[in-house]
Amino acid sequence: MIMQLNNKNNAVIVYQSNSLHGAIRTPSDKSISHRALILGALCLGETTIKNLLLSEDVINTAEALRQFGANIIINKDGECKICGIGIGGLLQPEKNIYLGNSGTSARLLIGLMSSCEVVVKFEGDESLSKRPMDRVLSPLQKVGLEILEDNDRKLPLTLRGAAMPVPIDHQLTIPSAQVKTALMLSALNISGTSIIIEPIKTRDHTENLLKLFDADITINKNSDGYDVIKINGQVKLTPQQIDIPGDPSSAAFFIVAGLIKPNSKLKITNVMTNPTRAHFIDVLNRMGANIKIDRTYSKCGEDVCDLEVTSSELNGIIIKKEEAPFLIDEFLILAVAAAYAKGTSKFYGLSELRVKESNRFEAIVNMLSSSGVSCRNIGDDIVIDGNGEVIGGSEIKTNLDHRTAMASFILGLNAHNKIRIDDISPINTSFPGFTQLYTQIGGSFKS
Ligand code: S3P
Repeated sequence: MIMQLNNKNNAVIVYQSNSLHGAIRTPSDKSISHRALILGALCLGETTIKNLLLSEDVINTAEALRQFGANIIINKDGECKICGIGIGGLLQPEKNIYLGNSGTSARLLIGLMSSCEVVVKFEGDESLSKRPMDRVLSPLQKVGLEILEDNDRKLPLTLRGAAMPVPIDHQLTIPSAQVKTALMLSALNISGTSIIIEPIKTRDHTENLLKLFDADITINKNSDGYDVIKINGQVKLTPQQIDIPGDPSSAAFFIVAGLIKPNSKLKITNVMTNPTRAHFIDVLNRMGANIKIDRTYSKCGEDVCDLEVTSSELNGIIIKKEEAPFLIDEFLILAVAAAYAKGTSKFYGLSELRVKESNRFEAIVNMLSSSGVSCRNIGDDIVIDGNGEVIGGSEIKTNLDHRTAMASFILGLNAHNKIRIDDISPINTSFPGFTQLYTQIGGSFKS
């Protein structure tokens, strides 16, 4: 089991640094790492994964899949071999399944077990235990999932998967790739056609990987222009060799670092540019960023780029509500960019940020306001009045949220006064090695 990390000794002080230089490689994508492990575990035969992200969240998914019977060997370079159990082959776990901080593991694995006859108790850390699970439980109850014990429909949750799962025809009510994926994973072991309708597009890695693994999946538009995903279940998957591309949401922190720190130039390689994930680069370009694409290549069916980022004078930006699902993991770091920009930025439609690893809506307002940046919320929208500089002198609480910790590091890069971050341990959930890269390019901090 991975230790629950909320160690009060994990505080740091971030100082204004000199200009940033050098080349760094973006760590592997978290969303694809979870999915590749799960689909590998559903094959009969050996799937190999290169460059699996070795972060706490992903390791929690691997550990859960082992408890369901998959044989998974991971070496320290992220090379992984999986001997799977086949669709519907989940074994009854002997212990409770602990998922740490990982909402993706929780929602995806609840989907996976919902159509298999197993009883599972899912547990998580303090942050995960506050996050809403009803978004997956309600549609999966239509499949036949039973809730044996719950805590206001949050973790800890004891669930029994359906003995005779029923295909559903379900239109998503929230734009969430985790909910969509939970329903797709459930459908894999349901005889007949399950239909999932997605009115607002979200990240499409599950669809892409399911095609790669030879699942029977089609995606077409309906008359409203919504994606209609159809999956015929109980079809054998074919083991694959997968090389995981870099995580744009992790790269985003260093891209913004290179932009806001004067006289800096950074090369950032291995950035996946799937359009459902890399929209923040378009947003930064609209703000006046100097981001050049050096090279484009392909990994695991996804476009990947090497980028050159040069410090830029950024301007305020309007981000419309319709853009929010494509920027869902980048708002914290975009708020830092907006703080260093000149002019007013408005981010619309951020209600989903309230139910992330922490309440990121409040995290943005607290992080910026306490650092001397004028920032306020109006309903579900945030307004930031940037004047090109940040005073700092703040104490930021990360509340078990990796992205708050990393965004605060970048905020401190050019702030006039030091910024204290109370607990940086959550960074390991998605980006082990972040602090080493931060210092490698010239960032300063003290433990
Ligand atoms: C993820 C989907 C998003 C995202 C999360 C990873 C995924 O969550 O915020 O970091 O891998 O499917 P939602 O589905 O809640 O939007």
